[in-house]
Amino acid sequence: MKCVNLAVLLVFLQNAIAVNAANTMLQNVPFANVTGSLNDNGVCQCSVYLPDTVFPVQKVEMLEITAQVLSEKLERELTKVSQYTKAIETYEQKIQNLTIKVEHMESTSVSYTELDFQLLKLEINEMERLVTQLKSTLVGSNVIVEQLYVEIKNLTLMVNDLESLDKNNILLIRREIVALQNRLKECEKHRNQTTTPSYFPPGSCGHGGIVNISQPYVVQLNWRGFSFKYGSWGRDYSLRTPQKDLYWVAPLNTDGRHLEYYRLHNSYDDLLLLKNARELKIPYGGEGSGTTVYNNFMYYNIYNSRDMGKLDLNTNTLAVRKALPNAAYGNRFSYAGVGWQDMDFAVDESGLWVIYSTEDSTGNIMISKLNETTLDVLHTWNTRQYKPSISNAFIICGVLYATRPVNTRKEEIFYIYNTNTEQEGKISIIMDKMLETIQSINYNPSDQVLYVYNDGYLVKHNLIFQPVLH
Ligand SMILES: *[C@@H]1O[C@H](CO)[C@@H](O)[C@H](O)[C@H]1NC(C)=O
Ligand SMILES: *[C@@H]1O[C@H](CO)[C@@H](O)[C@H](O)[C@H]1NC(C)=O
Ligand SMILES: *[C@@H]1O[C@H](CO)[C@@H](O)[C@H](O)[C@H]1NC(C)=O
Ligand SMILES: *[C@@H]1O[C@H](CO)[C@@H](O)[C@H](O)[C@H]1NC(C)=O
Ligand SMILES: *[C@@H]1O[C@H](CO)[C@@H](O)[C@H](O)[C@H]1NC(C)=O
Ligand SMILES: *[C@@H]1O[C@H](CO)[C@@H](O)[C@H](O)[C@H]1NC(C)=O
Repeated sequence: MKCVNLAVLLVFLQNAIAVNAANTMLQNVPFANVTGSLNDNGVCQCSVYLPDTVFPVQKVEMLEITAQVLSEKLERELTKVSQYTKAIETYEQKIQNLTIKVEHMESTSVSYTELDFQLLKLEINEMERLVTQLKSTLVGSNVIVEQLYVEIKNLTLMVNDLESLDKNNILLIRREIVALQNRLKECEKHRNQTTTPSYFPPGSCGHGGIVNISQPYVVQLNWRGFSFKYGSWGRDYSLRTPQKDLYWVAPLNTDGRHLEYYRLHNSYDDLLLLKNARELKIPYGGEGSGTTVYNNFMYYNIYNSRDMGKLDLNTNTLAVRKALPNAAYGNRFSYAGVGWQDMDFAVDESGLWVIYSTEDSTGNIMISKLNETTLDVLHTWNTRQYKPSISNAFIICGVLYATRPVNTRKEEIFYIYNTNTEQEGKISIIMDKMLETIQSINYNPSDQVLYVYNDGYLVKHNLIFQPVLH
């Protein structure tokens, strides 16, 4: 990325300057006297005496110090409105002194390569800024301040002239560095700004994962009522008929275990108005709130079994039933605070997944990519996160995100497992919730929204992704 390139260039330039500056000193400063001698061990030793140069280093240092002190004082004085005019007179004298020094520097014909003109200029600029402030705060015209302003301008010109005498281009490079630093700063600022409004098209994985999450947006209470606290809902992610909208709502029975009925709506408006619903009874009932819908099929854990079911939503018939090898079931390793969710189906940009545990995994989360046609396991990843200690999980771009409760009103996305790199990690993204328990979270890649079932309420969260950091 640009930022990094700039930073590298910067380091390179700084090194170049260090070398250049050292060379210059050797060229410009003649050695006064060198004596050599042999010591007891027969090693040759030399001493080098460096003479006082004609170059007015001390004066320049003084000049810099004066400028520093001056600008500090000026800043302090700014707060004492009543003493403005008096202070300005002193500053004026100091600036005159500074001018004399600079003029002196100008009149001597040595190279000034070692001088930090840039610092000098910064200090003068700072003074200029302060005087400009003074000008604006003082009511009416003030001759002294005006004069001060002109003198500072003059000082700037002189320093610029001095700089032009430099033959080693060091100052040029230094200025280049300052420009680069500014660009770096700007780049960083830009980066900070872009974290919020970044846009990634639906289905795109060109981002660096979740960086923040919106407030919960409560859509409605589930159609069966307040006592149906368990369940799931979402929006079909359909690649075959992307233009067709399909919302599904699947509250469990009040036992918090048995999935029997679900509803389909062909538009969001219908869902909101509870209109034109198709209400259906699942032929082979499901278990838990881990249900999802993908490409017009519902995927769920068939009741009291380690089998996965694939239900055709057009016909409400079971298309495939297949065991998930070695999967624990029957409330063995469900989520914290949410029973009977041994299998949690998930959809991301690349297709269908199932999140579960086995006895062999000692209850740790396993992630399997499924062939959605056959429900065969294509690949499995073992994590080191204990499934019953998390409250829910979902997958985005092959990255599993796990949540845990912080308190009754906040949930935290705290753990990630990236199946692309097989690496796990910790993050902390706080997610507000309306009610205490989150029974299910379904991610939809087409609108990049989390569909959350929260104690019977249907809730949505928008996701904010971060740009990829190189
Ligand atoms: C070098 O220093 C020595 C001892 O200080 C002195 O005797 C000699 O004259 C000096 N030589 C020159 C060239 O300055
Ligand atoms: C300016 O320089 C003169 C002579 O070096 C010195 O006496 C005087 O105090 C200086 N003024 C200020 C404000 O530094
Ligand atoms: C600014 O500098 C010019 C030339 O060095 C000089 O003639 C002029 O008097 C200066 N003005 C002030 C206000 O110092
Ligand atoms: C950008 O954000 C980082 C940390 O969030 C902060 O340290 C830095 O100062 C910010 N930079 C700018 C230019 O705002
Ligand atoms: C995250 O989102 C919340 C709610 O929209 C907002 O208040 C907060 O400032 C965001 N935090 C960051 C780091 O962007
Ligand atoms: C899924 O299974 C079907 C039927 O066996 C096969 O045609 C398809 O290639 C499989 N897909 C993947 C991604 O393995």
